[in-house]
Amino acid sequence: MESLKIDISTASGAVDREALDAMYERAVEVVGQLNEAADRGGECLGWIRLPFSVGEAEIIEIERAASLLRSRAEMIVVVGIGGSYLGAKAVIEALSGSFPGLCAHASAEQPKVVFAGNNLSEDYLGELLEALKDREIAVVVVSKSGTTTEPAIAFRILKAEMERRYGREESARRTVAVTDRERGALRAMAERESWTSFVIPNDVGGRFSVLSAAGLLPIACAGFDIRELMYGAREMAVATAAAVKDNPAVIYAALRNTLHNNGLTTEILAVYEPKLSALAEWWKQLFGESEGKKGKGIFPACAAMTADLHSIEQYIQDGRRMLFETTLGVRHARHKVVIGNDADNLDGLNYLAGRRLGEINHIARAAATQAHVAAGVPSIGIEIPEITPRSIGALIYFFEKSCAISGLLLGVNPFDQPGVEAYKCNMFRLLGKPGNY
Ligand code: PA5
Repeated sequence: MESLKIDISTASGAVDREALDAMYERAVEVVGQLNEAADRGGECLGWIRLPFSVGEAEIIEIERAASLLRSRAEMIVVVGIGGSYLGAKAVIEALSGSFPGLCAHASAEQPKVVFAGNNLSEDYLGELLEALKDREIAVVVVSKSGTTTEPAIAFRILKAEMERRYGREESARRTVAVTDRERGALRAMAERESWTSFVIPNDVGGRFSVLSAAGLLPIACAGFDIRELMYGAREMAVATAAAVKDNPAVIYAALRNTLHNNGLTTEILAVYEPKLSALAEWWKQLFGESEGKKGKGIFPACAAMTADLHSIEQYIQDGRRMLFETTLGVRHARHKVVIGNDADNLDGLNYLAGRRLGEINHIARAAATQAHVAAGVPSIGIEIPEITPRSIGALIYFFEKSCAISGLLLGVNPFDQPGVEAYKCNMFRLLGKPGNY
């Protein structure tokens, strides 16, 4: 199988060779330490082994639960926020068609997965309830703590709607919870109501949980092949396991930290396929929540190319010099679209006749990279062979491993999120939740 490729030739020239080599050495040590800690069952490191530890029995259970929900519902609402929804959304959008429901080949039977509980907009939820009105529905609620305000509120409203429509028993058959094994309100509800439920392992943090039931169940509900996804993740787990310099996660983590040490404080992930925009949002949360602490961190931003070449490109090219970018490209398109010849050639595009759009997209990426590098914006290139469950599984694991190495190189704990906890406590206090916050 073709695999993910990382090209550092348009970034490494911006840093001192010795500094980069020293960072590689530290990154290699960090991988060794991560491996040892994971072998000892270290706290928060369960994600490292998820591609292997989620066994056949759990996959079968997830597939069964998804197929039951799919057989009952036209719309499946996935309730969750942060790490409890971004990964699932990233994978589902990457693997879905760009015009869901509008293409002739899209199956009319396919239930649609939509998301709720990731905001507090009254209009969003009101419009969702309207959209659900004449449709059969089911709910997957994902919350590790089981107490986060946004999903808890959305779930209460959706649960009431389901019970009003179907009664308590049938509503219970249409509800699946993914949460902690023992703790939290959601676990208590799932036990009391006898909902089908899955566990987010204690040692897997929210933003590292997409390869657990937290991501796998919604992805299976959308009809995608979670086995292939895990297969790709497993391949990448093997490719990034060794404490060696040519480990791709070592290369990415070391280079971005060296660029950061050179005063570049913001990294832009520029995706060249629109359907990877949600994946970029997931990446932003993964790195932002893992690295931004103790006054440190590389600020993660995203761009959707080539649209953003006509938008924030001006800043990238010409604004404050604090940026480096990582471009994410896809080697092979799934469709073939060729530019035709036009007898009149009034648009002057005949020089492109016979060429595929994908080739022009690659050239746009190369052109933008050249311009950025010339303007002092180093550019790391990441390329996946195609958009399939397998390559997306590999990409997710690659970023997770890189993020852990990178956070440790930066000198922070990549697995906690004290800033988010502070917001959650303030929210409880301001809303008058009983207890001390
Ligand atoms: O990555 C994280 O830990 C956070 O983004 C959480 O996923 C997010 O705050 C939601 O938490 P929970 O799953 O407990 O509802």
